[in-house]
Amino acid sequence: MRGNRTMGAFIEAPVGLQFGCDKGAHMQMVAEASEVDVLDAALRRSWSEVQGWVGDRIPHILKFVRELHDTRKIEGDILEIGVHHGKLFFLLSAASRDNERCIAVDLFEDQQKNLDRSGKGSLAIFNQHLQELFPDYISRVTAISADSMSLTPATARERLGVTGVRLMSVDGGHTVAHVMNDMEIAQELLVPGGIILLDDFLGVHWPTVTEGFYRYMQIANRRLAPFLIFQNKLFLTTFSEQPETLTRLRSFLDRTLPNEIHSGRWRYATVGDHSVLSFA
Ligand SMILES: C[S@@+](CC[C@H](N)C(=O)[O-])C[C@H]1O[C@@H](n2cnc3c(N)ncnc32)[C@H](O)[C@@H]1O
Repeated sequence: MRGNRTMGAFIEAPVGLQFGCDKGAHMQMVAEASEVDVLDAALRRSWSEVQGWVGDRIPHILKFVRELHDTRKIEGDILEIGVHHGKLFFLLSAASRDNERCIAVDLFEDQQKNLDRSGKGSLAIFNQHLQELFPDYISRVTAISADSMSLTPATARERLGVTGVRLMSVDGGHTVAHVMNDMEIAQELLVPGGIILLDDFLGVHWPTVTEGFYRYMQIANRRLAPFLIFQNKLFLTTFSEQPETLTRLRSFLDRTLPNEIHSGRWRYATVGDHSVLSFA
């Protein structure tokens, strides 16, 4: 298990997000469900039931991605490398459309190849959660047991059965080599305007992710550009779409977080040569 991760928001569900298990609470859940955004509903289920690492406000950014991709008519599949038990993956699935596939890639039981012990995938637990908590997504989801280091940008499309990906999480092995490898795969699969979430960017317990990212940017990047740092993740899109994505993100935040955006917790920072919004 990946240890030493200490941010409160990543460990305990806020009281308002906890599920009761008596019948009355269930009735309340059902009543709420019709009013609750599908992303918030997925977080509630995933937060309390699925072990893993997800910031409590990631759904807010996924709402931005959904709006962006709907407005710009961007289509593609959903992919995560490094799924563990599926905590983030089920949120990403909640952002998928009926005709999109959701691909979960992990070593799963092949843990001797988990060289830096980042998480510990389990296909059995993942499948159990999928069936019990997210049955609506079963037909869209494919779980693939694979070492991402055995994939190349040239073979990934065929091995994973995807044509283009519009939303992808990179959260597998955390060594410099894994991050560079997985980012290179990501840049080849991403459709124009697609979004990548790189986990543990600037995270103090996994400095190799940050080192791997900057090495990737210097040596191998040909088309990705970051636009947001939020809850332990770096968000990237394709180079040509980065300025518009950043502008649209700012408008979304002005609209949805009108007080917080001026509270000092948000600012513009620079990552590589790119202006990004950052939240702390
Ligand atoms: C930090 S966990 C992922 C957490 C997950 N995204 C979540 O939402 O909770 C890292 C995962 O990467 C997997 N992993 C490690 N090295 C890998 C590799 N070379 N290829 C594929 N998966 C790998 C581990 O089995 C583990 O499940």
